[in-house]
Amino acid sequence: MAGKTKSININYTEYESFDDLTQDWQNLVKKAEEACETAYAPYSNFKVGAALELENGTIIKGNNQENAAYPSGLCAERVALFTAHSQYPDQKVKKITICAINNENKKTGVSPCGGCRQVMVEFSKNNNIEVLLKTKEGKFHLFTSALDLVPFNFNKKNLDG
Ligand code: THU
Repeated sequence: MAGKTKSININYTEYESFDDLTQDWQNLVKKAEEACETAYAPYSNFKVGAALELENGTIIKGNNQENAAYPSGLCAERVALFTAHSQYPDQKVKKITICAINNENKKTGVSPCGGCRQVMVEFSKNNNIEVLLKTKEGKFHLFTSALDLVPFNFNKKNLDG
């Protein structure tokens, strides 16, 4: 018998501009923008900033940290997520946003790489992480769960017998 074509649907909310975001998200976006400024990106000149909020309201920032041995660097999102988990191991991550300054020194959006999405999956075990992504055009896309960014993901359940 022929295989059946199936499809998945991913919902997200589009905001036309920064001004349309809730106050909460605006604050977090500003923190991510601050984080961009101090990124260490002498090789790519692409500065990425991430800001996340924990359930207790603490905000953690991270930015990309590059290295002359390229693979030894780390993305902004993972710097923020690992910092959060190392300092507040019992706190759930409620929301995260990411932005960048490109090599022409322009503020822009960024879509998280596969490795960072995988780490978001790891920290989504018992809770939903909301993800707000700025687009190149300056709009914002809000996903209610990081899991929506990684359909068919690999997680702990795959390891269990
Ligand atoms: N980068 C991030 O920090 N986050 C992403 O999701 C995509 C890429 C960094 C890695 C590297 O330092 C630079 O951007 C160029 O790829």
